[in-house]
Amino acid sequence: MKNLTLTNTVQTQEDKDKQCELQKSGEIPEHIAIIMDGNGRWARSKGSIRLHGHKVGVDSVRDITESCAQLGVKYLTLYAFSTENWGRPSAEVRGLMRLLVSSLRKEAENLHENNIRLVTIGQLDRFPEDCRKELQEAIELTQNNDRLQLCLALSYSGRWDITEAVKKIATHVKEGRLDPSLINDQMITDHLSTAEIPDPDLIIRTSGEYRISNFLLWQLAYSELYMTEQFWPDFRREELYKAIRSFQSRDRRFGKLSTTKDENGLATRLVDKLK
Ligand code: IPE
Ligand code: IPE
Ligand code: MG
Repeated sequence: MKNLTLTNTVQTQEDKDKQCELQKSGEIPEHIAIIMDGNGRWARSKGSIRLHGHKVGVDSVRDITESCAQLGVKYLTLYAFSTENWGRPSAEVRGLMRLLVSSLRKEAENLHENNIRLVTIGQLDRFPEDCRKELQEAIELTQNNDRLQLCLALSYSGRWDITEAVKKIATHVKEGRLDPSLINDQMITDHLSTAEIPDPDLIIRTSGEYRISNFLLWQLAYSELYMTEQFWPDFRREELYKAIRSFQSRDRRFGKLSTTKDENGLATRLVDKLK
């Protein structure tokens, strides 16, 4: 396999050292999901049109994908277009579609050479024919790759995902193949568009907004959240490293206690005393 060259630059020794440090200082999240926000405001702040922000945002996608692969992240999910984004002016929507097609044309081969698998979640049937064709080709080309799975959320929303899962489960019940009392967390997880993907460990949102905007609503139950003021076109690998450092400092308790053995002993003694 060739060295990863998505950004067409040679990785510096300094960057390699930083990644190595990060790998030693704690766990690298297995799945990172990103709400890539702030392209329009970034462009406006430069006196440019919104589409320019989306274009430079593609460079961030490339840099973050490359650095995630290098770090050993296994799943990277990018919120690229939400169900609600269809409500934007048609010129912007068309511009985004064109950008998607041209980026896929440029990058598909590159992703493949770097052993990255491309998948999508969302209502792809709402996309124009040329977009779907380009996506399908890239998905097929990269289907056996296993270094990193890059999942693009396109025409996606968490509520849409849950609604679709409910419809599928309701159909099983209607056809007499499922007893409703057997419906549980795992069954719902298995009927979502992300059934093959583990829940995100870390969710990043750029642009200083503190909301989820209908992203992976079910899947984020125990994800660590990291919000940054940076607009997406400025979010490059150094910012990703900051987010991972923050992730490594979190105490993920999943509703339980992060007690050491000694603390367990103390708790048992306390309970005994209370008896
Ligand atoms: C994120 O940037 C990209 C998409 C939602 C498609 P925005 O286009 O939302 O940029 P802002 O948030 O308006 O600055
Ligand atoms: C979220 O950004 C959707 C994507 C990044 C694709 P938006 O810009 O659409 O979200 P809001 O409107 O700020 O909540
Ligand atoms: Mg936005």
